[in-house]
Amino acid sequence: MPKDNRDFFKTKKIWSEVKDELLGCYLVPYFNKILSMGNPVLYVDCFAGKGKFDDGKGGSPLTALQSLDKSMAVYRGRFPMPSVFMKFIELNYAADLISNLPEHSKERCEVISGKFEDNIMPLLQRSISQYHQLNVFLYVDPYGVKVLNAKLFDSVATAFRTAELLINLNSFGFIREACRVKKISFRERESEVFSDLEEYDSSTMESLQDLDNIAGGSYWQEIIDKYGRGEIDCYDAEKEFSRLYKERLRKNYTYVLDMPIRLKPGQHPKYRMVHATNHPDGCILMADNIAKRTDRLVIEIQSGGQMSLLQQTAENEIISEEILMEKMEELLENTPSFTRLNQLLANFYNQYGVLCDLSRLSSGRSGSILKTLEKSGYIDVQRQPAYTEKGTATTFWQEQHRKTISLRKRR
Ligand SMILES: C[S@@+](CC[C@H](N)C(=O)[O-])C[C@H]1O[C@@H](n2cnc3c(N)ncnc32)[C@H](O)[C@@H]1O
Repeated sequence: MPKDNRDFFKTKKIWSEVKDELLGCYLVPYFNKILSMGNPVLYVDCFAGKGKFDDGKGGSPLTALQSLDKSMAVYRGRFPMPSVFMKFIELNYAADLISNLPEHSKERCEVISGKFEDNIMPLLQRSISQYHQLNVFLYVDPYGVKVLNAKLFDSVATAFRTAELLINLNSFGFIREACRVKKISFRERESEVFSDLEEYDSSTMESLQDLDNIAGGSYWQEIIDKYGRGEIDCYDAEKEFSRLYKERLRKNYTYVLDMPIRLKPGQHPKYRMVHATNHPDGCILMADNIAKRTDRLVIEIQSGGQMSLLQQTAENEIISEEILMEKMEELLENTPSFTRLNQLLANFYNQYGVLCDLSRLSSGRSGSILKTLEKSGYIDVQRQPAYTEKGTATTFWQEQHRKTISLRKRR
Protein backbone atom coordinates (compact mmCIF):
# COMPACT_ATOMS: atom_id res chain seq x y z
CA MET A 1 0.00 0.00 0.00
CA PRO A 2 1.25 3.50 -0.69
CA LYS A 3 2.27 5.36 2.39
CA ASP A 4 0.43 8.52 3.26
CA ASN A 5 2.29 11.78 3.50
CA ARG A 6 1.20 13.15 6.86
CA ASP A 7 4.73 12.95 8.24
CA PHE A 8 6.36 14.75 5.34
CA PHE A 9 7.13 17.94 7.27
CA LYS A 10 8.20 16.29 10.57
CA THR A 11 11.87 16.06 9.67
CA LYS A 12 13.56 17.16 6.50
CA LYS A 13 14.84 14.02 4.82
CA ILE A 14 18.14 13.90 2.98
CA TRP A 15 16.48 13.67 -0.44
CA SER A 16 14.47 16.81 0.32
CA GLU A 17 17.76 18.50 1.16
CA VAL A 18 19.34 17.42 -2.12
CA LYS A 19 16.21 18.58 -3.97
CA ASP A 20 16.38 22.00 -2.28
CA GLU A 21 20.12 22.30 -2.94
CA LEU A 22 19.50 21.60 -6.60
CA LEU A 23 16.92 24.38 -6.63
CA GLY A 24 18.83 26.88 -4.48
CA CYS A 25 22.19 26.49 -6.23
CA TYR A 26 20.55 26.94 -9.61
CA LEU A 27 18.42 29.92 -8.64
CA VAL A 28 21.32 32.18 -7.62
CA PRO A 29 22.88 32.30 -11.13
CA TYR A 30 19.38 32.18 -12.67
CA PHE A 31 18.27 35.31 -10.81
CA ASN A 32 21.67 36.94 -11.49
CA LYS A 33 21.23 36.46 -15.20
CA ILE A 34 17.62 37.61 -15.38
CA LEU A 35 18.15 40.58 -13.07
CA SER A 36 21.16 41.69 -15.09
CA MET A 37 18.93 41.87 -18.18
CA GLY A 38 16.51 44.17 -16.33
CA ASN A 39 13.37 42.14 -17.04
CA PRO A 40 10.74 41.17 -14.47
CA VAL A 41 10.61 37.65 -13.02
CA LEU A 42 7.67 35.57 -11.88
CA TYR A 43 8.77 32.68 -9.67
CA VAL A 44 6.05 30.19 -8.73
CA ASP A 45 6.51 27.42 -6.18
CA CYS A 46 3.45 25.44 -7.22
CA PHE A 47 3.34 23.08 -4.18
CA ALA A 48 5.09 25.25 -1.65
CA GLY A 49 4.57 23.39 1.63
CA LYS A 50 4.92 24.87 5.11
CA GLY A 51 8.05 26.94 4.52
CA LYS A 52 9.72 25.23 7.46
CA PHE A 53 9.95 21.59 8.50
CA ASP A 54 9.08 20.80 12.12
CA ASP A 55 12.80 20.23 12.83
CA GLY A 56 13.42 23.89 11.96
CA LYS A 57 14.95 23.31 8.53
CA GLY A 58 13.77 25.57 5.72
CA GLY A 59 11.61 24.31 2.86
CA SER A 60 11.64 25.28 -0.81
CA PRO A 61 10.06 28.78 -0.40
CA LEU A 62 12.81 29.82 2.01
CA THR A 63 15.45 28.29 -0.24
CA ALA A 64 14.21 30.37 -3.19
CA LEU A 65 14.04 33.55 -1.12
CA GLN A 66 17.60 33.04 0.16
CA SER A 67 18.83 32.58 -3.42
CA LEU A 68 17.06 35.78 -4.43
CA ASP A 69 18.64 37.66 -1.48
CA LYS A 70 22.09 36.49 -2.61
CA SER A 71 21.48 37.66 -6.19
CA MET A 72 20.06 40.98 -5.10
CA ALA A 73 23.06 41.62 -2.88
CA VAL A 74 25.27 41.30 -5.97
CA TYR A 75 23.19 43.65 -8.11
CA ARG A 76 21.94 46.17 -5.53
CA GLY A 77 22.61 49.74 -6.62
CA ARG A 78 24.02 48.80 -10.04
CA PHE A 79 20.88 49.60 -12.02
CA PRO A 80 17.15 49.89 -11.37
CA MET A 81 16.14 46.53 -9.91
CA PRO A 82 13.47 44.80 -12.04
CA SER A 83 10.33 43.53 -10.33
CA VAL A 84 10.53 40.04 -8.84
CA PHE A 85 7.27 38.34 -7.92
CA MET A 86 7.50 35.35 -5.61
CA LYS A 87 4.27 33.32 -5.61
CA PHE A 88 3.65 30.29 -3.41
CA ILE A 89 0.66 28.03 -4.03
CA GLU A 90 -0.23 25.72 -1.15
CA LEU A 91 -3.39 23.76 -0.41
CA ASN A 92 -2.98 22.64 3.19
CA TYR A 93 -0.42 24.81 4.97
CA ALA A 94 -0.87 28.34 3.61
CA ALA A 95 -1.19 29.88 7.09
CA ASP A 96 1.98 28.14 8.35
CA LEU A 97 3.80 29.28 5.25
CA ILE A 98 2.77 32.92 5.69
CA SER A 99 4.06 32.93 9.25
CA ASN A 100 7.32 31.24 8.20
CA LEU A 101 8.24 33.76 5.48
CA PRO A 102 11.02 36.15 6.49
CA GLU A 103 9.72 39.64 7.32
CA HIS A 104 12.01 41.43 4.87
CA SER A 105 10.77 39.32 1.93
CA LYS A 106 7.04 39.53 2.59
CA GLU A 107 6.51 42.53 0.38
CA ARG A 108 7.42 40.66 -2.78
CA CYS A 109 5.73 37.37 -1.77
CA GLU A 110 2.18 36.18 -2.23
CA VAL A 111 0.89 32.96 -0.69
CA ILE A 112 -2.03 31.60 -2.68
CA SER A 113 -4.11 29.33 -0.51
CA GLY A 114 -5.75 26.62 -2.59
CA LYS A 115 -5.16 24.09 -5.31
CA PHE A 116 -2.48 24.41 -7.96
CA GLU A 117 -4.98 23.15 -10.57
CA ASP A 118 -7.41 25.98 -9.81
CA ASN A 119 -4.92 28.78 -9.34
CA ILE A 120 -2.08 28.40 -11.80
CA MET A 121 -3.82 29.50 -15.03
CA PRO A 122 -5.47 32.61 -13.53
CA LEU A 123 -2.12 33.55 -11.95
CA LEU A 124 -0.21 33.16 -15.22
CA GLN A 125 -2.87 34.97 -17.26
CA ARG A 126 -3.02 37.87 -14.79
CA SER A 127 0.77 38.16 -14.81
CA ILE A 128 1.08 38.14 -18.62
CA SER A 129 -1.55 40.82 -19.01
CA GLN A 130 0.16 43.06 -16.44
CA TYR A 131 3.83 42.71 -17.36
CA HIS A 132 5.67 42.58 -20.66
CA GLN A 133 8.91 40.70 -21.09
CA LEU A 134 8.10 38.50 -18.12
CA ASN A 135 10.40 35.55 -17.31
CA VAL A 136 8.79 32.68 -15.49
CA PHE A 137 10.22 29.85 -13.38
CA LEU A 138 7.90 27.10 -12.13
CA TYR A 139 9.02 24.83 -9.32
CA VAL A 140 6.71 21.82 -9.33
CA ASP A 141 7.10 19.55 -6.31
CA PRO A 142 3.84 17.67 -5.73
CA TYR A 143 3.36 14.47 -3.75
CA GLY A 144 2.40 12.49 -6.84
CA VAL A 145 1.91 12.85 -10.58
CA LYS A 146 -1.82 13.41 -10.75
CA VAL A 147 -1.57 17.20 -10.95
CA LEU A 148 1.14 17.33 -13.61
CA ASN A 149 -0.27 18.78 -16.79
CA ALA A 150 1.70 18.54 -20.04
CA LYS A 151 -0.47 21.08 -21.89
CA LEU A 152 0.15 23.67 -19.20
CA PHE A 153 3.91 23.15 -19.46
CA ASP A 154 3.64 23.52 -23.26
CA SER A 155 1.73 26.76 -23.07
CA VAL A 156 4.10 28.31 -20.51
CA ALA A 157 7.02 27.81 -22.92
CA THR A 158 5.46 30.01 -25.57
CA ALA A 159 3.61 32.62 -23.49
CA PHE A 160 6.57 34.15 -21.64
CA ARG A 161 9.83 35.81 -22.60
CA THR A 162 11.62 32.84 -21.08
CA ALA A 163 10.20 29.88 -19.19
CA GLU A 164 11.92 27.27 -17.06
CA LEU A 165 10.57 24.29 -15.17
CA LEU A 166 11.98 22.19 -12.37
CA ILE A 167 9.69 19.21 -11.83
CA ASN A 168 9.79 16.46 -9.26
CA LEU A 169 8.68 13.59 -11.49
CA ASN A 170 7.44 10.65 -9.47
CA SER A 171 7.92 8.34 -12.41
CA PHE A 172 7.33 5.11 -10.44
CA GLY A 173 4.03 6.57 -9.22
CA PHE A 174 3.08 7.08 -12.85
CA ILE A 175 4.01 3.49 -13.83
CA ARG A 176 2.04 2.08 -10.95
CA GLU A 177 -1.07 4.11 -11.82
CA ALA A 178 -0.67 3.31 -15.51
CA CYS A 179 -0.67 -0.42 -14.69
CA ARG A 180 -3.75 -0.06 -12.54
CA VAL A 181 -5.71 1.84 -15.18
CA LYS A 182 -4.66 -0.64 -17.89
CA LYS A 183 -5.55 -3.50 -15.54
CA ILE A 184 -2.05 -4.94 -15.60
CA SER A 185 -0.86 -6.27 -12.28
CA PHE A 186 2.19 -4.66 -10.72
CA ARG A 187 4.64 -7.55 -10.29
CA GLU A 188 7.34 -6.06 -8.09
CA ARG A 189 6.96 -5.72 -4.33
CA GLU A 190 5.42 -2.27 -3.76
CA SER A 191 6.99 -2.01 -0.33
CA GLU A 192 10.38 -2.22 -2.05
CA VAL A 193 9.72 0.09 -5.00
CA PHE A 194 7.98 2.75 -2.96
CA SER A 195 9.96 2.41 0.27
CA ASP A 196 10.56 5.79 1.92
CA LEU A 197 8.41 7.51 -0.64
CA GLU A 198 6.29 9.64 1.69
CA GLU A 199 5.65 11.92 -1.22
CA TYR A 200 3.52 9.28 -2.83
CA ASP A 201 0.03 10.49 -3.53
CA SER A 202 -2.57 7.82 -2.97
CA SER A 203 -5.20 9.53 -5.14
CA THR A 204 -5.91 7.51 -8.25
CA MET A 205 -6.30 8.22 -11.93
CA GLU A 206 -9.60 7.34 -13.59
CA SER A 207 -8.83 6.85 -17.25
CA LEU A 208 -6.27 6.52 -20.01
CA GLN A 209 -7.04 10.15 -20.85
CA ASP A 210 -5.99 11.26 -17.33
CA LEU A 211 -2.63 9.58 -17.87
CA ASP A 212 -2.29 11.00 -21.40
CA ASN A 213 -2.81 14.49 -19.96
CA ILE A 214 0.02 13.97 -17.48
CA ALA A 215 2.42 12.38 -19.97
CA GLY A 216 1.51 14.64 -22.88
CA GLY A 217 0.48 11.78 -25.17
CA SER A 218 -0.17 8.07 -25.29
CA TYR A 219 3.47 6.96 -25.78
CA TRP A 220 3.49 5.52 -22.26
CA GLN A 221 0.92 2.84 -23.18
CA GLU A 222 3.35 0.80 -25.25
CA ILE A 223 5.77 0.73 -22.30
CA ILE A 224 3.05 -0.58 -20.00
CA ASP A 225 2.00 -3.17 -22.59
CA LYS A 226 5.61 -4.41 -22.77
CA TYR A 227 5.66 -4.59 -18.99
CA GLY A 228 2.36 -6.50 -19.07
CA ARG A 229 3.84 -9.06 -21.50
CA GLY A 230 6.77 -9.54 -19.10
CA GLU A 231 9.33 -8.19 -21.60
CA ILE A 232 10.61 -5.57 -19.16
CA ASP A 233 10.45 -5.02 -15.39
CA CYS A 234 9.12 -1.92 -13.66
CA TYR A 235 12.62 -0.40 -13.44
CA ASP A 236 13.10 -0.63 -17.21
CA ALA A 237 9.60 0.74 -17.65
CA GLU A 238 10.42 3.72 -15.40
CA LYS A 239 13.63 4.44 -17.29
CA GLU A 240 11.90 4.31 -20.66
CA PHE A 241 8.99 6.42 -19.46
CA SER A 242 11.36 9.08 -18.09
CA ARG A 243 13.31 9.12 -21.35
CA LEU A 244 10.16 9.62 -23.41
CA TYR A 245 8.73 12.15 -20.94
CA LYS A 246 11.87 14.26 -21.45
CA GLU A 247 11.65 13.76 -25.22
CA ARG A 248 8.07 15.02 -25.13
CA LEU A 249 9.07 18.12 -23.13
CA ARG A 250 11.72 18.85 -25.80
CA LYS A 251 8.91 19.74 -28.22
CA ASN A 252 8.69 23.06 -26.40
CA TYR A 253 11.90 23.25 -24.35
CA THR A 254 15.14 22.75 -26.25
CA TYR A 255 17.10 21.47 -23.28
CA VAL A 256 15.76 18.92 -20.83
CA LEU A 257 17.89 17.22 -18.19
CA ASP A 258 17.09 14.97 -15.29
CA MET A 259 18.69 13.96 -12.05
CA PRO A 260 17.60 10.56 -10.72
CA ILE A 261 17.48 10.70 -6.93
CA ARG A 262 18.70 7.41 -5.46
CA LEU A 263 19.98 6.76 -2.00
CA LYS A 264 22.17 3.69 -2.23
CA PRO A 265 24.61 2.58 -4.90
CA GLY A 266 22.96 0.27 -7.36
CA GLN A 267 19.54 1.12 -5.96
CA HIS A 268 16.83 2.26 -8.33
CA PRO A 269 15.94 5.96 -8.23
CA LYS A 270 13.19 7.19 -5.91
CA TYR A 271 12.16 9.86 -8.38
CA ARG A 272 13.66 12.24 -10.89
CA MET A 273 14.13 15.98 -10.88
CA VAL A 274 13.50 17.17 -14.44
CA HIS A 275 14.72 20.57 -15.62
CA ALA A 276 13.51 22.21 -18.84
CA THR A 277 14.76 25.43 -20.42
CA ASN A 278 15.20 27.02 -23.82
CA HIS A 279 18.46 28.64 -22.90
CA PRO A 280 21.84 26.91 -23.35
CA ASP A 281 23.32 28.79 -20.37
CA GLY A 282 20.48 27.52 -18.16
CA CYS A 283 21.11 23.97 -19.33
CA ILE A 284 24.84 23.99 -18.60
CA LEU A 285 24.33 25.70 -15.24
CA MET A 286 21.86 23.00 -14.25
CA ALA A 287 24.08 20.24 -15.63
CA ASP A 288 27.03 21.41 -13.55
CA ASN A 289 24.71 21.76 -10.56
CA ILE A 290 23.39 18.21 -11.05
CA ALA A 291 26.95 16.87 -11.31
CA LYS A 292 27.88 18.60 -8.03
CA ARG A 293 24.72 17.48 -6.19
CA THR A 294 25.43 13.97 -7.47
CA ASP A 295 28.89 14.06 -5.91
CA ARG A 296 27.23 14.96 -2.62
CA LEU A 297 24.62 12.21 -2.97
CA VAL A 298 27.18 9.60 -3.98
CA ILE A 299 29.86 10.58 -1.49
CA GLU A 300 27.90 11.62 1.58
CA ILE A 301 24.88 9.40 1.38
CA GLN A 302 25.52 6.40 -0.76
CA SER A 303 29.09 5.76 0.40
CA GLY A 304 28.66 6.82 4.01
CA GLY A 305 31.09 9.74 3.62
CA GLN A 306 33.82 7.74 1.89
CA MET A 307 35.28 9.83 -0.90
CA SER A 308 35.58 7.80 -4.08
CA LEU A 309 38.52 8.42 -6.37
CA LEU A 310 36.32 7.92 -9.40
CA GLN A 311 33.50 10.34 -10.16
CA GLN A 312 30.14 8.67 -10.66
CA THR A 313 27.08 9.96 -12.46
CA ALA A 314 23.61 10.05 -10.90
CA GLU A 315 23.03 6.78 -12.76
CA ASN A 316 25.93 5.34 -10.71
CA GLU A 317 28.11 4.97 -13.78
CA ILE A 318 31.79 5.78 -13.82
CA ILE A 319 32.55 7.80 -16.93
CA SER A 320 36.10 7.54 -18.20
CA GLU A 321 37.93 10.21 -20.22
CA GLU A 322 37.76 7.84 -23.21
CA ILE A 323 33.97 7.76 -23.10
CA LEU A 324 33.76 11.56 -22.79
CA MET A 325 36.19 11.97 -25.68
CA GLU A 326 34.24 9.56 -27.88
CA LYS A 327 30.94 11.38 -27.26
CA MET A 328 32.44 14.84 -27.75
CA GLU A 329 34.02 13.78 -31.04
CA GLU A 330 30.70 12.32 -32.16
CA LEU A 331 28.95 15.60 -31.32
CA LEU A 332 31.59 17.70 -33.10
CA GLU A 333 31.30 15.43 -36.13
CA ASN A 334 27.62 16.39 -36.29
CA THR A 335 28.24 20.11 -35.71
CA PRO A 336 29.50 21.31 -39.10
CA SER A 337 29.76 25.08 -38.58
CA PHE A 338 31.43 27.21 -35.90
CA THR A 339 29.27 26.97 -32.78
CA ARG A 340 29.40 28.89 -29.53
CA LEU A 341 30.97 26.92 -26.68
CA ASN A 342 27.94 27.17 -24.39
CA GLN A 343 25.66 25.99 -27.16
CA LEU A 344 27.89 22.97 -27.81
CA LEU A 345 28.10 22.11 -24.10
CA ALA A 346 24.32 22.39 -23.72
CA ASN A 347 23.87 20.10 -26.74
CA PHE A 348 26.29 17.64 -25.16
CA TYR A 349 24.35 17.43 -21.88
CA ASN A 350 21.00 17.41 -23.63
CA GLN A 351 22.02 14.52 -25.86
CA TYR A 352 24.12 12.35 -23.54
CA GLY A 353 22.86 13.37 -20.08
CA VAL A 354 24.90 14.73 -17.19
CA LEU A 355 27.96 12.50 -17.60
CA CYS A 356 30.34 14.85 -15.78
CA ASP A 357 30.73 18.39 -14.49
CA LEU A 358 31.74 21.29 -16.73
CA SER A 359 35.38 21.28 -15.71
CA ARG A 360 35.95 17.87 -17.30
CA LEU A 361 34.57 19.09 -20.63
CA SER A 362 35.97 22.58 -20.99
CA SER A 363 37.28 24.70 -18.16
CA GLY A 364 39.19 22.29 -15.92
CA ARG A 365 42.49 23.61 -14.56
CA SER A 366 44.22 20.29 -14.90
CA GLY A 367 42.99 19.76 -18.44
CA SER A 368 39.71 18.93 -20.13
CA ILE A 369 38.35 17.17 -23.19
CA LEU A 370 38.12 20.34 -25.30
CA LYS A 371 41.54 21.58 -24.23
CA THR A 372 43.00 18.24 -25.32
CA LEU A 373 41.16 18.44 -28.65
CA GLU A 374 42.47 21.96 -29.24
CA LYS A 375 46.06 20.89 -28.47
CA SER A 376 45.87 17.93 -30.80
CA GLY A 377 44.46 20.08 -33.62
CA TYR A 378 41.14 18.20 -33.76
CA ILE A 379 39.19 21.46 -33.41
CA ASP A 380 39.55 25.06 -34.51
CA VAL A 381 38.81 27.58 -31.75
CA GLN A 382 37.98 31.25 -32.28
CA ARG A 383 38.11 33.46 -29.19
CA GLN A 384 36.86 36.99 -28.69
CA PRO A 385 38.98 38.81 -27.68
CA ALA A 386 41.61 36.86 -29.61
CA TYR A 387 44.53 38.66 -27.93
CA THR A 388 45.33 39.87 -24.44
CA GLU A 389 46.31 43.51 -23.81
CA LYS A 390 49.93 42.41 -23.99
CA GLY A 391 49.35 41.03 -27.49
CA THR A 392 49.53 37.29 -26.72
CA ALA A 393 46.83 34.90 -27.96
CA THR A 394 44.06 34.28 -25.43
CA THR A 395 43.52 30.73 -24.18
CA PHE A 396 40.44 30.98 -21.92
CA TRP A 397 37.91 28.14 -21.91
CA GLN A 398 34.88 29.81 -20.34
CA GLU A 399 32.38 32.18 -21.92
CA GLN A 400 31.56 35.08 -19.64
CA HIS A 401 31.00 38.84 -19.82
CA ARG A 402 32.44 39.85 -23.19
CA LYS A 403 34.49 36.71 -23.71
CA THR A 404 33.14 34.35 -26.35
CA ILE A 405 34.39 31.10 -27.85
CA SER A 406 33.29 29.44 -31.09
CA LEU A 407 34.60 26.10 -32.30
CA ARG A 408 34.21 23.35 -34.86
CA LYS A 409 35.98 20.20 -35.98
CA ARG A 410 39.04 21.02 -38.12
CA ARG A 411 38.56 20.20 -41.79
C1 LIG B 1 6.14 17.52 -1.56
S1 LIG B 1 5.32 18.73 -0.67
C2 LIG B 1 6.18 20.20 -1.11
C3 LIG B 1 7.38 20.44 -0.28
C4 LIG B 1 8.05 21.74 -0.56
N1 LIG B 1 8.48 21.84 -1.95
C5 LIG B 1 9.26 21.89 0.35
O1 LIG B 1 10.39 21.61 -0.06
O2 LIG B 1 9.09 22.32 1.48
C6 LIG B 1 3.81 18.95 -1.51
C7 LIG B 1 2.93 20.06 -0.96
O3 LIG B 1 1.82 20.23 -1.83
C8 LIG B 1 0.64 20.49 -1.05
N2 LIG B 1 -0.49 20.11 -1.91
C9 LIG B 1 -1.08 18.91 -2.05
N3 LIG B 1 -2.01 18.94 -3.03
C10 LIG B 1 -1.98 20.20 -3.54
C11 LIG B 1 -2.67 20.85 -4.60
N4 LIG B 1 -3.58 20.21 -5.33
N5 LIG B 1 -2.39 22.15 -4.86
C12 LIG B 1 -1.45 22.81 -4.14
N6 LIG B 1 -0.77 22.24 -3.11
C13 LIG B 1 -1.01 20.96 -2.83
C14 LIG B 1 0.84 19.68 0.19
O4 LIG B 1 0.10 20.23 1.28
C15 LIG B 1 2.35 19.80 0.42
O5 LIG B 1 2.63 20.86 1.27
